[in-house]
Amino acid sequence: MNYRHSFHAGNFADVFKHVLLRELICAMQRKPKPFLFLDTHAGRGRYDLSRAAEGGRSPEWPDGIGRLLAASGLPAPVADYVEAVREYNRACGAGADTLRYYPGSPVLALQLARPADRCAFCELQPEEADALERECAGHRKARVHRIDGYGAPRAMLPPLEKRALVLIDPPFEAADEMRQVAAAVEEGLRRSPAAVFAIWYPLTGRAATAPLFLPLRERRLAPTLVIELRVQAEAAGAGMGGCGLAILNPPWQFDTALRPVLAQLAPLLALDGEADVRFEWLVPEAP
Ligand SMILES: C[S@@+](CC[C@H](N)C(=O)[O-])C[C@H]1O[C@@H](n2cnc3c(N)ncnc32)[C@H](O)[C@@H]1O
Repeated sequence: MNYRHSFHAGNFADVFKHVLLRELICAMQRKPKPFLFLDTHAGRGRYDLSRAAEGGRSPEWPDGIGRLLAASGLPAPVADYVEAVREYNRACGAGADTLRYYPGSPVLALQLARPADRCAFCELQPEEADALERECAGHRKARVHRIDGYGAPRAMLPPLEKRALVLIDPPFEAADEMRQVAAAVEEGLRRSPAAVFAIWYPLTGRAATAPLFLPLRERRLAPTLVIELRVQAEAAGAGMGGCGLAILNPPWQFDTALRPVLAQLAPLLALDGEADVRFEWLVPEAP
């Protein structure tokens, strides 16, 4: 387990994932009943961008969140996300217009959580879990679980609240990780058929999506919407030219609402003239 998200925090993939995650949480909150937010691979919550260039690496956030800070006329979900990042920097004492810290998925969820919504964050890497515990201090309904995120659907579903949003955002280091994701989702949906699952995945030459998509398509576990953002036609080497989010049981009209938002976001994050957004129903909704 070598993956450290710190090098990637705030890159185009985080922007894409976190704009959509906030919209999914807001959609869950259209109903007054509380829900469980389960983040199976949660990370450390707070990323110090001043350290993103350590080890001589090029920081990735300037081509992600960095591009949005000065942009005007952003669609509301993107503008709200940028404001959430600014708000987090203010709360961390970074100064009004400084971007020093990037909030990971647990922090963005904690910002939005209502008093009765519960957050369960799984993180196996001890340092990351320690940092995340510090972020959760004072949040009565948030807990860090130092367990394998792939076992979390079995351990935590169905939730007492009877409603759940599950984010699966693994590092995709292991060769069979797509297959593990598919198995975890199948187990989760057996236990909570109405739960919303959001699976992030990279578009690279290395991590083929077939082991994830084939079982989802064949087993027709739940209506499944796939949204992909490509920021460049071909990424060099093992680079990531884009990424996607597969959403099982997506909220009503999520695709209609997000199409224009992502159409505006894609050119802002483009690395070449080939930036593109794709929406596809892998398993269509029942008519
Ligand atoms: C892509 S990062 C998570 C980023 C986070 N979801 C966000 O959006 O801010 C993946 C995280 O999963 C952790 N991890 C790796 N394998 C794991 C496993 N089997 N169970 C739980 N966490 C794991 C890594 O330490 C890393 O912090």
